[in-house]
Amino acid sequence: MTILVTGGAGFIGSNFVLDWLDHSDEAVINLDKLTYAGNLANLVSIERSQQYVFVHGDIGDSALIGRLLAEHQPRAILNFAAESHVDRSIHGPGDFIETNIVGTFHLLEAVRAYWSRLSPDGQRSLRFLHVSTDEVYGSLSKDEPAFTENHRYEPNSPYSASKAASDHLVRAYHHTYGLPVLTTNCSNNYGPYHFPEKLIPLMIVNALAGKPLPVYGDGQQIRDWLYVKDHCSAIRRVLEAGALGETYNIGGWNEKPNLDIVHMVCAILDELKPRADGRAYRAQITYVADRPGHDRRYAIDARKIERELGWKPAETFETGIRKTVQWYLDNPDWTADIQSGAYREWVEKNYTGRTA
Ligand SMILES: NC(=O)c1ccc[n+]([C@@H]2O[C@H](COP(=O)([O-])OP(=O)(O)OC[C@H]3O[C@@H](n4cnc5c(N)ncnc54)[C@H](O)[C@@H]3O)[C@@H](O)[C@H]2O)c1
Repeated sequence: MTILVTGGAGFIGSNFVLDWLDHSDEAVINLDKLTYAGNLANLVSIERSQQYVFVHGDIGDSALIGRLLAEHQPRAILNFAAESHVDRSIHGPGDFIETNIVGTFHLLEAVRAYWSRLSPDGQRSLRFLHVSTDEVYGSLSKDEPAFTENHRYEPNSPYSASKAASDHLVRAYHHTYGLPVLTTNCSNNYGPYHFPEKLIPLMIVNALAGKPLPVYGDGQQIRDWLYVKDHCSAIRRVLEAGALGETYNIGGWNEKPNLDIVHMVCAILDELKPRADGRAYRAQITYVADRPGHDRRYAIDARKIERELGWKPAETFETGIRKTVQWYLDNPDWTADIQSGAYREWVEKNYTGRTA
């Protein structure tokens, strides 16, 4: 048996591939375009595994996907591939439309063609699992209840709008053609292999380099954080037992303002790797102009997946963030490799000109 993972060289996808091979004898085909966010260094530990095949390609390349499906006959396709960074979607939305909407459409078409040729048993057991985000639901005010699966879609950024569109396409392929789909909408992930332009790794990496820790606006934007390995276990569980056509919200019950996250990262670093001058890392915090249209609060109500599939996160934020900081301390070469090239250009483009 085989599964096809798209976007498996990215942050969550690579964690998922590693996690899958730890838990299963089934082979994984990893199709990834290797954009700036794809990093095969995440997967060096398995590159020689008999259970693992990497294919460089685009989810929008129907011919390639068709060939891969025919050759490997996967029993499941898990779509992690996406343009995923909100700030990048503000600077240049085109790639988000291309991959997240048009690419998902081509992938769905290729999977539909493959599925329609399977035996009745094969058709019954095939799964297309689409990995999506809580950002499709928009922003909550402080006292509003957390997002359930029935919350209306109100995306506010080009990123979340493109993910919302892809979710709708996936839904439509189930209702129109009967394609056996599952959709997951997850909150903010953190953990190993997180690209250092995102909040938590950026703070760790900048703190260690003695650089400013740039906090957007007042730092009171609230996110619901989930340790990436908990996201992986939730996806495995949905793939195993999710009801066809259903969506499952995945969250960690860990709502925290961004500034609290930065303070926690600083406090753990003070303990694990104190600054040479004895001062606290939080002295490096600087406030920069907020992101346009920055959503104020996301919160996931994860009761459905707990009730129906018996899934709960294993980590609290306190245990997960400590593991994450330790991972970055243990893997400076991984970060250094990324910091050359594209990453530097991006940081310059994004932060130059933001006023304190
Ligand atoms: N990071 C989060 O906190 C979070 C939370 C909820 C949901 N998600 C969703 O999970 C998925 C993975 O997120 P991530 O944080 O790992 O993203 P990422 O940006 O780290 O990785 C995306 C991967 O997709 C690949 N890719 C991009 N365009 C492609 C294309 N056209 N064809 C094939 N591969 C392509 C990239 O090379 C990269 O390896 C995304 O769909 C994202 O919307 C992310």
